[in-house]
Amino acid sequence: MHRSLTLAHLLVVTALFLGCGDHAPKKSYDAKALIVQKCAECHNLDMPPKTFPDEKAPPMMAVTFHVRDFMKVENPSEKRQKFIDFVTDYVINPSASKSFCDKKSLQEYGVMPSQKGKVTEDELEAIAGYMYDHYDPEKFMEIMTQRARFMALPAYKRVLETKNCLGCHGIEKDKIAPSFKRIAKKYGQADEATIIKSIENGSRGKWKGFKVIMPPFKDLNESDKKAIANWILEQAK
Ligand code: HEC
Ligand code: HEC
Repeated sequence: MHRSLTLAHLLVVTALFLGCGDHAPKKSYDAKALIVQKCAECHNLDMPPKTFPDEKAPPMMAVTFHVRDFMKVENPSEKRQKFIDFVTDYVINPSASKSFCDKKSLQEYGVMPSQKGKVTEDELEAIAGYMYDHYDPEKFMEIMTQRARFMALPAYKRVLETKNCLGCHGIEKDKIAPSFKRIAKKYGQADEATIIKSIENGSRGKWKGFKVIMPPFKDLNESDKKAIANWILEQAK
């Protein structure tokens, strides 16, 4: 008797020590990688979303906003958990009656095929938590405001911002590269093509006394290149 009791105790202690049983800490997941792996095949993950005419499913931002809006909770603090519970269940047991998707879209897309066996419940909890936090309406508004501000800028300013030209060039004064004013003075309005070539291909050895070289900027479109070249040439004044 005494002996078996000790053995039982020993097993319990060992189990606790190994961290098994109900209180085992949950594995931590890279939810962002998981959602790409498990859901991106059908749902576009961008925010704001990209949509395609023949898409297999509504974009994930639309799904998340929709479920968030339609889910009823007594207390706002329960919303995140309720959202996670809904998504975790829906992905394994989807049905037309559970879906918050409107009838027309449901008909277009068809009910989501169950992902049972392709994703575990723990993985789904991590994915759903990520969806709730990432596709946040306030975050979205912030992105759209920034984007609108950026698109309202003149083209030359968008180039300066995205390519960080002013990290190396001053407008009036040399930094680690010649100032745009000096460049404009060296060239004239007729040299637009030369300037565009240097921006496309980079430049080295044309200007004395600078230790860095000018890297190529291949991915600018024609109108952006013209805009920045013209703006540089205007700095001669
Ligand atoms: C094989 C394609 C496919 C995959 C993979 C897929 N889904 Fe879906 N999903 C759909 C379609 C189609 C719909 C829209 C119809 C519907 O609501 O069932 C949908 C709808 C949903 C909805 C319900 C939206 C609502 O309004 O009720 C949720 C939640 C959802 N998906 C989450 C996920 C998550 C999370 C993953 C990754 C683990 C995933 N889906 C993977 C096709 C897919
Ligand atoms: C990493 C630093 C750096 C960045 C970033 C940079 N430049 Fe330059 N740039 C230089 C240097 C250094 C030179 C001088 C190169 C030389 O001696 O030929 C130069 C030269 C130039 C010239 C004169 C080329 C010539 O043919 O005489 C132009 C025009 C120019 N840069 C435009 C730009 C624009 C527009 C951007 C942003 C899209 C930019 N640069 C970003 C370092 C930089």
